[in-house]
Amino acid sequence: MTSAIQMVDITKTFPGVTANDNIDFSVDKAEIHGLLGENGAGKSVLMSILYGLYKPDSGDILVDGEKVDISGPSDAMRLGIGMVHQHFMLVPSLTVVENVILGREPTVNGVTLDMERMLRDVAESCKRYKLDVDIEAPVYQLPVGVQQRVEILKALYRGADVLILDEPTSVLTPGETEELFNAVRELKADGKTVIFISHKLREVLAICDRITVLKRGKVVGTVLAAETGEGQLAEMMVGRKIVYEFTKEAECGLEPVLRLEGLECLSDRGIPALRGLDLDLCGSEILGVAGVEGNGQTELVEAVMGLRELTGGSVKLDGQDITDTQPKTRIQMGVSHIPEDRHKRAIVPDFSVLENLVLGSQRDRFTRNGVSIDFAEAKRFSTDMINDYQIATPGPETLIRYLSGGNQQRVVVAREFSRDPPVVIAAQPTRGLDVGATEYVRRKLVEMRDHGAGVLLISADLDEIWALSDRVAVIYEGSIVAVKAVDETDVQEIGLLMAGGGNE
Ligand SMILES: Nc1ncnc2c1ncn2[C@@H]1O[C@H](COP(=O)(O)OP(=O)(O)OP(=O)(O)O)[C@@H](O)[C@H]1O
Ligand SMILES: [Mg+2]
Repeated sequence: MTSAIQMVDITKTFPGVTANDNIDFSVDKAEIHGLLGENGAGKSVLMSILYGLYKPDSGDILVDGEKVDISGPSDAMRLGIGMVHQHFMLVPSLTVVENVILGREPTVNGVTLDMERMLRDVAESCKRYKLDVDIEAPVYQLPVGVQQRVEILKALYRGADVLILDEPTSVLTPGETEELFNAVRELKADGKTVIFISHKLREVLAICDRITVLKRGKVVGTVLAAETGEGQLAEMMVGRKIVYEFTKEAECGLEPVLRLEGLECLSDRGIPALRGLDLDLCGSEILGVAGVEGNGQTELVEAVMGLRELTGGSVKLDGQDITDTQPKTRIQMGVSHIPEDRHKRAIVPDFSVLENLVLGSQRDRFTRNGVSIDFAEAKRFSTDMINDYQIATPGPETLIRYLSGGNQQRVVVAREFSRDPPVVIAAQPTRGLDVGATEYVRRKLVEMRDHGAGVLLISADLDEIWALSDRVAVIYEGSIVAVKAVDETDVQEIGLLMAGGGNE
């Protein structure tokens, strides 16, 4: 059988890095093929080459056995290759249908838009591939998971037979992930080929037929999902076994380090998002916030950080009321924040790695004689951080936009953890990180807890909450419906509470 895609001897270098080093990669027709590897291993670059975003230095690409020249996404689309990026590229003000057909509008007699056909075509794809979307809704109103379905519809509408999904599940809730998988299975049943990038080994094993592992730009190997397991995959990726086992501290100190009382605020759409939320975070504990996404998690974090206006309630840090203080003041008072939206809140893409690492503390920590910035010190600090957090970058002066997704996240985590804060607000801290880096960040969170910090961990990943938390709080429709010590509850009970069942 000819492969749907064959990439032969692909090499791509950037200044200081060989992102792809003589890679051979092939995918069968109607196969779901997983692509795994540590942060910076070269996955996104390889797929960007296939989609025509980068030109390889050398190597060939064959589609259905024929050598092709892909010099841009339009070539890729013509050859039936579509890609859904991690950062969506939809026009927020247009409706779903308008986004899907953008640039490919069907017309009547070559002039007026054939609205009816448009709606019919798109609705049909939704049904056929089990992509549940309100196609007449404007995109800005849709949750991330649904926007992703729109991106998939768009690629299919352009005739994609091969669909590249770059870390599609890192922005999804467990329920949305299940729905995506159902759609992917439909695509396969329909003869389509899917290339699936993820750091979550369990997902890759569940959905893929075969899995290819990359390491430092090279192929480590390709294995059958049915014949491998998490242990082998982790070893192929990082060369050692990964263990997540931490001790728990169920006891809480007397005075909470962070006390939230009766928090109320509105969402971006003007709907009540927090409805009288009470929560105490103690020193020396990791308090996990479990909940189905969209139940106020984002607003909770923003309220604590002073990034969202409250319509009621108060925030106290070490007994001191900080409800009316600026975000900057809170950071100076010792609240560290790993935001869920890295691009919006955490990094400045056109700043260097060094600048991003000292962001926020350049005024106090890196000033000489209280005036000019001490560049030598900043450089020493950033070099240390690059080593400690194993940030793959040609150097501290490289612009952060050129780093892989996971390495950008490492910069954020390194900066926030290095402040040695008494309170850490960690929203999806390991999103986009490979297994090794995930383990490292988790270890750091535990270490900070052991040194007395209170850590509020907001994660869509129940496994993560379970692995780390001393206590679990369940958020539902804008308030905390239960707080439990982990050893006094189980996943079933928490899952039920998350869905609004049961009551305290
Ligand atoms: N435009 C660019 N300029 C310079 N270097 C780049 C560019 N794009 C990627 N790189 C580098 O190429 C290497 C591979 O990056 P790539 O984005 O493919 O990693 P990845 O496997 O997708 O990692 P992650 O899991 O973190 O997303 C990295 O070292 C990255 O910094
Ligand atoms: Mg990537």
